[in-house]
Amino acid sequence: MPAFKSWLAAATAIGMCLGAAVPTPSSKDLQVLKEKSLASDLLFPVLPCGKFKLEEATIDQMQAAMEAGTLTSVQLVGCYVLRTFQTDLYINSLLQYNPDALSIAAQMDAERAAGKVRGPLHGIPFTIKENIATKDQMETTAGSWALLGSIVPRDAHVVAKLREAGAVLFGKATLSEWADMRSNNYSEGYSARGGQCRSAYNLTVNPGGSSSGSAVGVAANAIAFSIGTETDGSVINPAMRNNIVGFKPTVGLTSRAGVIPESEHQDSIGTFGRTVADAVYALDAIYGVDERDEYTLAQEGKTPTGGYAQYLTTKDALKGATFGLPWQSFWRYADPEQIRKLTALIELIEDAGATIINGTEITDYERIVSPYGWDWDYGTNRGYPNESEYTVVKVDFYNNIKTYLSELENTNIRSLEDIVQFNYDNDGTEGGHPWPQGHPAFYSGQDGFLASLATKGIKDEVYYQALNFTQTSTRNGIDDALTYNGKKLSGLLVPPDVAQAPQIAAQAGYPVITLPAGIHSASGMGIGLGIMQTAYGEAELVKWGSAIEDLQKTSGTPHKRTLPQWRDFLKRNIPVYNVYEGSD
Ligand SMILES: *[C@@H]1O[C@H](CO)[C@@H](O)[C@H](O)[C@H]1NC(C)=O
Ligand SMILES: *[C@@H]1O[C@H](CO)[C@@H](O)[C@H](O)[C@H]1NC(C)=O
Ligand SMILES: *[C@@H]1O[C@H](CO)[C@@H](O)[C@H](O)[C@H]1NC(C)=O
Ligand SMILES: *[C@@H]1O[C@H](CO)[C@@H](O)[C@H](O)[C@H]1NC(C)=O
Ligand SMILES: *[C@@H]1O[C@H](CO)[C@@H](O)[C@H](O)[C@H]1NC(C)=O
Repeated sequence: MPAFKSWLAAATAIGMCLGAAVPTPSSKDLQVLKEKSLASDLLFPVLPCGKFKLEEATIDQMQAAMEAGTLTSVQLVGCYVLRTFQTDLYINSLLQYNPDALSIAAQMDAERAAGKVRGPLHGIPFTIKENIATKDQMETTAGSWALLGSIVPRDAHVVAKLREAGAVLFGKATLSEWADMRSNNYSEGYSARGGQCRSAYNLTVNPGGSSSGSAVGVAANAIAFSIGTETDGSVINPAMRNNIVGFKPTVGLTSRAGVIPESEHQDSIGTFGRTVADAVYALDAIYGVDERDEYTLAQEGKTPTGGYAQYLTTKDALKGATFGLPWQSFWRYADPEQIRKLTALIELIEDAGATIINGTEITDYERIVSPYGWDWDYGTNRGYPNESEYTVVKVDFYNNIKTYLSELENTNIRSLEDIVQFNYDNDGTEGGHPWPQGHPAFYSGQDGFLASLATKGIKDEVYYQALNFTQTSTRNGIDDALTYNGKKLSGLLVPPDVAQAPQIAAQAGYPVITLPAGIHSASGMGIGLGIMQTAYGEAELVKWGSAIEDLQKTSGTPHKRTLPQWRDFLKRNIPVYNVYEGSD
């Protein structure tokens, strides 16, 4: 394993500067791991950062160490660089390192030394999905070579807010190219510019997407927290598969200005953390009204003064909670192992004092929930394009991408037509044509783009019917399921692996949180427990998410976040195996 050896040399060199001892696993240990195709912590140990234990460190712990003077932000950046050297050849979670990261960290250290601490994210390194614009030395391309060299007008609103909060932009995370809009059969986590991202839980399978590198990096302790985007499952799905917390807010809570779009009606900027608190600190930094995204105006009067972190709580809060299980709508599609493990966790939640109501269903679930897994064109596939989410997204993308491109400089790419032509002209890298003429990661070529192109962005009667139908039916459906005997439930508990659950929330524009809840035994990939809520129900998600997390951590249950096992760490298959459904 030459890569491993050279990593050890680099780690030893950098580890010496940081004062960390690099452990050397015995050759017998290595042999056993290799035979089992497992790597575990022995091959990929998370080194301490000086005297600070970096592995699974929370933002609060990093903050406390910096406050005590035993850790600096510069050191943290150095340690995450080291961790990235160690892991990136295998999991490829980072697309581009920010050349400014160390100088931003040094500035944050200087401010702290002068007595200024901006908040909980001061000096904390983070990554963003590569489709989020930064006006700095990095590129913003959605993983496509088509936008290489293009110059964005300004930082995305969420990036500007994170900089204000004192967080340190470490780099850009890998993603599924164009956030999966381009193709309907593809290798999740792949982009021409970024290559194949792989989950540290099992390197051969779908790592979750399209915010793949964001989730994979946080899960592998290669970064403190991350920001991603979701149109339909792209935050929740990779968070679940990588056994971390994913928070997808109400559409309009976080500004999409400066983010390469898919659909204005469904796009939302979300957060990833190893704990609920970490994901919530990130959410607190990014949400708010932005004049460049008119959807954010709707949040006025619906958000708490002082942010969402005030709702973080402990398991005692569960005594007053009542959760619904939409069994026929979603749960019945989950695999038996997952049902068994999540049911055990739900029993624990009940023992902690919560009431569980089984069978609170999404109204009209027989009509609107696909029985065949994730399918954003389910409306069309059952005969009604005027009731399909994809009818809306196809038209929105055509228009929204044109608006995004209109603000770029130094590029000839001005429209979806230009992108499609670029992909045809660069089949070998961009897979414009279906495989085998194009690229094996894009088996169906760019059929998603072609479908969008065919609409020419025209908002006809079918579009408006589909928009109204997908929004109205899913909002009513979730709100009805959240109402029991005239009373409002604390939330709907769902298995996010049944991708129809985040899919119904995506059409509604409603928020979802997923909590890590153990792993599948065959694949080693994460199992999640999702909570769904109504529009601007984020405070509830923070409260119940943190209460359940506290219960997981204090009860000894195995159904919680566990570290990756680096299964099949020497495999390099493209496409990755699709053992579960996809997402966008
Ligand atoms: C999707 O691509 C795989 C190869 O990556 C292929 O085996 C499969 O048949 C394709 N599925 C569809 C529905 O075309
Ligand atoms: C919920 O009800 C269904 C029947 O509708 C049953 O199969 C399932 O086991 C129940 N789940 C729990 C957790 O009680
Ligand atoms: C969609 O079109 C069909 C007729 O093709 C109609 O029966 C149905 O009511 C329409 N759905 C909506 C939501 O307008
Ligand atoms: C939107 O859908 C709802 C329920 O499906 C329906 O009652 C309403 O008339 C529709 N509105 C428009 C403008 O089509
Ligand atoms: C990785 O996941 C695949 C798909 O579930 C599975 O077949 C394989 O055995 C897993 N690898 C290991 C080493 O467990």
